[in-house]
Formats: sequence, C-alpha cells, structure tokens
Amino acid sequence: MPNLPQKTFCLYTYGCQMNEHDSERIAGMLESHGAIQVETVEEAEIAVFVTCCIREAADVRLMGQVASIKNIPLPEGSTLSKRMVCIGGCIGQRDGDALPGKLAHVDVVFGTQNVERLPYLLEAAMAEGGHHVEVLEKSDSFSTDLPSKRDRAWSAWLPITVGCNNFCTYCIVPYVRGRERSRTLEDIAADARALVADGVKEITLLGQNVNSYGRDLYGEPRFADVLRAVSESGVERLRFATSHPKDLTDEVIGLYAELDNLMPSLHLPVQSGSDRILKAMNRRYTAERYLALVDAVREANPDVSLSTDIIVGFPGETEEDFQATYDLVKRVGYSQVFTFIYSPREGTPAASMTDDTPREVIQRRFDSLVDLVQENALEQNRRFVGRTLPVLVEGASKRDDRVLAGHSPHNVTVHAPVPEGLDAASLAGTTVMVRIDQARAWYLSGTVVGD
Ligand code: SAH
Ligand code: SF4
Ligand code: F3S
Repeated sequence: MPNLPQKTFCLYTYGCQMNEHDSERIAGMLESHGAIQVETVEEAEIAVFVTCCIREAADVRLMGQVASIKNIPLPEGSTLSKRMVCIGGCIGQRDGDALPGKLAHVDVVFGTQNVERLPYLLEAAMAEGGHHVEVLEKSDSFSTDLPSKRDRAWSAWLPITVGCNNFCTYCIVPYVRGRERSRTLEDIAADARALVADGVKEITLLGQNVNSYGRDLYGEPRFADVLRAVSESGVERLRFATSHPKDLTDEVIGLYAELDNLMPSLHLPVQSGSDRILKAMNRRYTAERYLALVDAVREANPDVSLSTDIIVGFPGETEEDFQATYDLVKRVGYSQVFTFIYSPREGTPAASMTDDTPREVIQRRFDSLVDLVQENALEQNRRFVGRTLPVLVEGASKRDDRVLAGHSPHNVTVHAPVPEGLDAASLAGTTVMVRIDQARAWYLSGTVVGD
C-alpha cells in the first residue's frame, strides 16, 4: 500500500464529465492513502492534471498551465525537493512516454485505464526521482471501484459505461478511452441505492454513449433497464449524458412519460444538419431521422428541454451544408447548444480529409449560429415565466451571495433572492419552489415561494 502521509495535492480538471468523475475518484483515492486535498497550487506538494485533448485548444491550454506553475515554490515545511507534477486523463493516455520530452518537469504520467496506479507511481517518483510513466491500452477495471470524494454532497455521477465504439471521424475519444465496456445492471442499481442512502438528490448516469449501454454484456442495448432500475432507487432527480441519436430507442423515449424522477431534459448531440456531412462524420443518422426523434420525445413529454453539440467547419462543409445546420437548429428550438469549430485531431480519419474552407468563412458561420442559439435559448426560457418550478439549490450565485443559484428540472439555471433569515450556503442541496418572473438567454430569475 503506497503511503502518502500528509502530502498535500491539488487537482486541475479539464474536459468532460468523465474527467470530473475521475477527479473525484483520484481525490478519494489519494486521501485514502493519507494525502490531503488543498485548493491552490501554492499549498500543494503534488499537482495532478486530469487532461483533455478533444480539440487543439485543450492541448495548448494544458501546456501553458503546466509551464505556469513551474516556478511557484513548494509550500513551507515540505520535505520534497520539487513539486510532483502528474499528468493523467486523455493527454496522458495519448502521449504516454512522449510527454516528459514535451514537458521537462513532469514526474508522473498515467492514463485513462489505470487511474488506480497513480499513488504507486507517485510514491516511486518521490523516492527515486525521474519520470514514472505507465499507460495501459486497455483494462477491465473501472475507476468506479475506487473511493470517491464528491464535490457536491447532493449530486453524483454514476458511470454506466466507459469508452466508445462509434469512431465518429473527427473524434479522438475512442482512441484515448478505449472500447465501450458496460458495468452490470446489478452494480449500477446497487450504487444508485447507496448514493440515495448517502443523501444524494441527483444522479447523472455517465458514458460517452449511454444509450448503447449493455451491448457488450447482453448482446443488445439495455439503457431503458438502467433508467428503470436507477429510477427505482427513489432518487429525486435522474439525468444522463451523453446519448447518441442512432441508439435512442422508442422505449427510452417512452420513459419521459413514465418515470417521474427522469428529468425533462435531453442532451442529444446532432453535430450537423447536413446529411452529406453527417455521413462524412460517420454519425449513422440523417437530419430527418434526428428530427423524428425530437418530435417523438416532445410527444412523450412536451416539457422536455433539448440541448445539443454542433461542429462548424467540418472538412468540406459548404454554405449549403451550414445552412442545413442553421435550419435544423431553428426548427428544433434548443435550450442550449454547445458550438465548436472543427479542430483536426491527429490519428482520426477526418484529419486527413481536404479542408479548404477559409478560416474567416468558418468564423462567420460560427458567429451566426451563436446568435441564433442565443435567440433560441431566450425563446425557450420564456415559456417558464409565470410557472413555479422546483429548484435544487447549489449555493450563492457567482456575483451576489444574497442570490441563490440552482437548476430547474429542465436543467436551466435559476436565480432568486435568498429568503429573509436564510443564507445561500445552508440552502445548498435542498429543493425550493421558485416562481419564475423573468427569462434571460442563460438563466431564469424568480422568487422563492416555499419549499
Ligand atoms: N460522446 C459524446 C461527446 C464527446 S465530445 C457524444 O458523442 O455526443 C463532446 C463534443 O465535442 C462532441 O459532441 C463534438 O461536438 C465535439 N468535438 C469532438 N471532437 C471534435 C473535434 N475534433 N473538433 C471540434 N469539436 C469536436
Ligand atoms: Fe466521439 Fe462520436 Fe464517441 Fe461521441 S460518439 S465520443 S463524438 S466517437
Ligand atoms: Fe476530453 Fe477525454 Fe472527455 S478528450 S472530452 S476528457 S473523454
């Protein structure tokens, strides 16, 4: 058992919910070996970076961040000769042995498949010095088996699958997270019950493609069974991320009308509205099919809010292709859209496709889409004005500690003045009823009317 008594560590987490979840596991695991988590790098003897390489900007940011802590002195009283710099996550997985060459002061590199090795590698690096790199191509273990230290006591991630088999042509995830593996239904249901017993109000099921859950174990997707089993735990709010349109079954859609604790929000990445581009992306659905899914979801439960991801400037995207995306976004009416400019990732098929659209043209398309998304979001949020919604409080809003912030069932941020005699921090993790008075593009504001 590695021993890291009283060693202080801080975590830098980038990328998607998978990394956020891995970071909770890393924190829990390091603390179980005697280390102590601190807020700032100045207080930390160990800095752990849980990295992302989905787009080039994410890579560049990591290099800058690691370089920027190089000259910060160790905390007073530390017995180490230097701060231990550990790089994990998707860049650790992708670059492995090559990383210490790119970043000279890196001590430990680990991958997405062997998070549990970090304490061992750290102990060796502290005792022997030098670089300690260990990356596995694949593994049958889940970081889920490690102890977890949740950021917010009332909200938990519950991973149901790891990895991805879809190989969308632009995407690096299948190369850095490995093949899709599902946990058993029994394990997931047991975790859900344990989380609820621990006071958790909100569970978010996690996977790169949650709705293909079970294909490896049961020969067919059984995501609907997962939803039912976790719903039965009695958790107040059940959510999931992310789902792929090609695997969204009628049975899952029907659950929006059936399960009271399945929240009325769905993140359904479309990526493009052009069939030609969808094909080149290897997404395996058409715009028409996607729109039929949206209609079916709204028929099951008209209150469902939709969000999506879109890539602008995929190689060969014409004005006509972009217009198809624009029209689709307008037609669906999303509450939220995550828009990305295409970024070539070495090793993916799209990286070798001819890409001759000028940068300014892509930027103009991107800007016009962002304007539309903002109009859409405002229009969607207006439908809540006058309604009273249950809001799961997260604490004070960023700007004003007399204003509480939380989320509606539709996953829209809600702000409301903290009622007289209470404070936002003590309301965190409770559900209050808020009458919505005003809609903005990115949040709703209202008045607490009870709990
Ligand atoms: N598994 C999820 C998303 C993973 S990545 C899914 O399939 O929906 C999150 C988003 O990043 C993707 O939906 C896509 O819109 C975007 N993305 C992925 N690779 C990208 C790239 N090379 N350039 C730009 N955006 C990318
Ligand atoms: Fe990437 Fe596609 Fe897998 Fe999502 S489904 S992680 S976009 S390959
Ligand atoms: Fe990034 Fe890896 Fe997630 S590349 S988006 S952290 S799976």
